Amino acid sequence: MENKHCVLVSGGAGYIGSHTAVELVEAGFDVVIADNLSNSDISAVEGVRRITGVDVQFVDVDCCDRAAFDRLFDDYGFDSAIHFAAYKAVGESVSDPMKYYRNNLGSFMNLVDLMRAHGRRNILFSSSATVYGEADTLPVTELSPRKPATSPYGNTKQMCEDILRDSVKAYDSLRGIALRYFNPIGAHPSALIGELPRGVPQNLVPYITQTAAGIRECLSIFGNDYPTPDGSCLRDYIDIVDLAKAHVAALRRMIGGGGERYEVFNIGTGRPVSVFELVETFERVNGVSVNRKVAPRRAGDVVAVWADTSLANRELGWRAERSLDDTLRSAWAWEKHVRGME
Ligand code: NAD
Ligand code: WQD
Repeated sequence: MENKHCVLVSGGAGYIGSHTAVELVEAGFDVVIADNLSNSDISAVEGVRRITGVDVQFVDVDCCDRAAFDRLFDDYGFDSAIHFAAYKAVGESVSDPMKYYRNNLGSFMNLVDLMRAHGRRNILFSSSATVYGEADTLPVTELSPRKPATSPYGNTKQMCEDILRDSVKAYDSLRGIALRYFNPIGAHPSALIGELPRGVPQNLVPYITQTAAGIRECLSIFGNDYPTPDGSCLRDYIDIVDLAKAHVAALRRMIGGGGERYEVFNIGTGRPVSVFELVETFERVNGVSVNRKVAPRRAGDVVAVWADTSLANRELGWRAERSLDDTLRSAWAWEKHVRGME
């Protein structure tokens, strides 16, 4: 039997990792999910297994625990790793920066070290559009300057990109890709996996779905006086399954040896969408109403950011396909599944 290429998915029980695990299995990869479940639930792994019909392996491990992480490398013969394991709450990173530096840098440095020590090759890192800050020209390309981070969380993304770039440069055995995600939203069409925020959602779409479900009283729209067509902020909302597929494309590129040894790609749709447009589209496609009010601007928000995706389109042969309507339908289907509303 042909040997499948095995991929470590660290943080694979989380929102983006679980969707990526599904796409990897469906593309013919063997997947090992490693996660300490600090911001996720084992039900996500069960969802991955149900969707794929494959008993995907799961290891409960903290990537910051170097000895335990090392044992995982002894136990599994993956040659590639996709590293999702990180904390991601921007506000919390401001109030507790060491929690973020310790976890996000510590887990990634362990990964890079262990990949090298065990002679494993390909590292795919979850970066973020947050590295562009308030860009001078839009849309942003991969050559747009990174702006000084406005939060410790954002700083960890820049620092991990640099750790990967420098490591690949210094250690011939490694190659790396950093994917800069724009705003991932939506859920798998099966509604068996999706985003599971703990506590009050910080991100727009989970707040919308929870408000529509009656769990939150009212969505606050943070600012209607920005210099944009309708006064609300503009973002590039990327469907979660499309985003997951970008990982498969990037992995194939590394395995196939194409491109440079370290590369960066924007992963978005290339289309700016305002907060008002997003809420109105959600209501229209789902036939539900979302109680909302205009509230003051949120500290730290950029006015607008969206991606020039031509590099990923050309080099990865990837592009965003799912419509915003379908993505927002999937977000609502997932919320209803979680709440037992079906
Ligand atoms: P998530 O919190 O749902 O997933 C992260 C997973 O990593 C969780 O399952 C968590 O339990 C796990 N984890 C955290 N620290 C760990 C550790 N030390 N050891 C083992 N597991 C650990 O978040 P997500 O939205 O799926 O994000 C995944 C990655 O993508 C993160 O690196 C995040 O910073 C990045 N990213 C997310 C977004 C977004 O908007 N969701 C945007 C850009 C980049
Ligand atoms: C989107 C828009 C808000 C909530 C964050 C991180 C970023 C990246 C993705 C990881 C903004 C508005 C939101 C609400 C609102 N994560 N909004 N009411 O801020 O673009 O990016 O997630 O890397 O680093 O900063 O996403 O979903 O929080 O906000 O009006 O209750 O929705 O002001 O314009 P953001 P978001």
